[in-house]
Amino acid sequence: MTIIDGKKIAADVRAEVAAGAAALRSSFRAPGLAVVLCGEDPASVSYVTAKERACAECGIVSFPVRFPADVPRETLLGEIARLDAAPEVDGILVQLPLPRDLDEREVLLAISPDKDVDGFHPVSAGRLATGFDGFVPCTPAGIVELLLRSGVDPAGKHAVVVGRSNIVGKPVAALLARKGRGGDATVTLCHSATPDLGRFTREADILVVAVGRPGTIGSGMVKPGAVVIDVGVNRVPDPSKKAGFRLVGDVDFDAVSPVASRITPVPGGVGPMTIAMLMANTLKAARLHAAAAKATAGGDS
Ligand code: GUN
Repeated sequence: MTIIDGKKIAADVRAEVAAGAAALRSSFRAPGLAVVLCGEDPASVSYVTAKERACAECGIVSFPVRFPADVPRETLLGEIARLDAAPEVDGILVQLPLPRDLDEREVLLAISPDKDVDGFHPVSAGRLATGFDGFVPCTPAGIVELLLRSGVDPAGKHAVVVGRSNIVGKPVAALLARKGRGGDATVTLCHSATPDLGRFTREADILVVAVGRPGTIGSGMVKPGAVVIDVGVNRVPDPSKKAGFRLVGDVDFDAVSPVASRITPVPGGVGPMTIAMLMANTLKAARLHAAAAKATAGGDS
């Protein structure tokens, strides 16, 4: 069994993004990412901090935007409209979940698809589903990169995805099923209403688990030699840790790792890839904006 080293692969991706960002800075300007956080949910604060740190490492300018949890809807939407119009901002990330009664859908719709580096806008989802180029959500894109860079080509394999969220399950199923690089798998999508989950997971050559519940997958649910991608990030109380908790995935790692051929750990598997792909999406947005600026300048002359 091989542990897939997400930290190392993510560092490779960030280094490639840094090289691309440096080249763009010399011909245009540095890529820019607005990072919007409402409230102080500890997990969200730690994700956002990690995203801003990755920007600095990649030569991407981050524009931190912080609001209290009780930010009025109009204030948040007004700020998104300002960022959407700002030429130095290539991408806008609004950390989810939003606090209290703020309407996530309304906020996601307020971001133009050409700055939607999270890939959560329905236009981005529609592009992915229909084979148009667009922004792919970062965690699913990171999962496919992890597979390819570990020597696992999904083509011709049976991939079973557990979880049907808009952020992970549905887009990763679409990516693995689409034509071409990183796709061409036969995909089964399981969810909370799937009876006898193990019947499906035991058929998987590649098993992707994204439900947010520890212990969802035990050893008897995995085919020997399968590749297991654990997307879960769950905090479980642990008095022996300084923070009082530790992170575990959705897969029972100790039980499943002897059965799998490859498996991602939690932490250090999918998590770092999500951030690396956000950097890659921001560079892509900046390149598109550079090309558009060049076309406009050319048209004016
Ligand atoms: N919350 C959990 N995952 C994500 C993500 O990929 N992007 C954003 N914006 N919020 C999240």
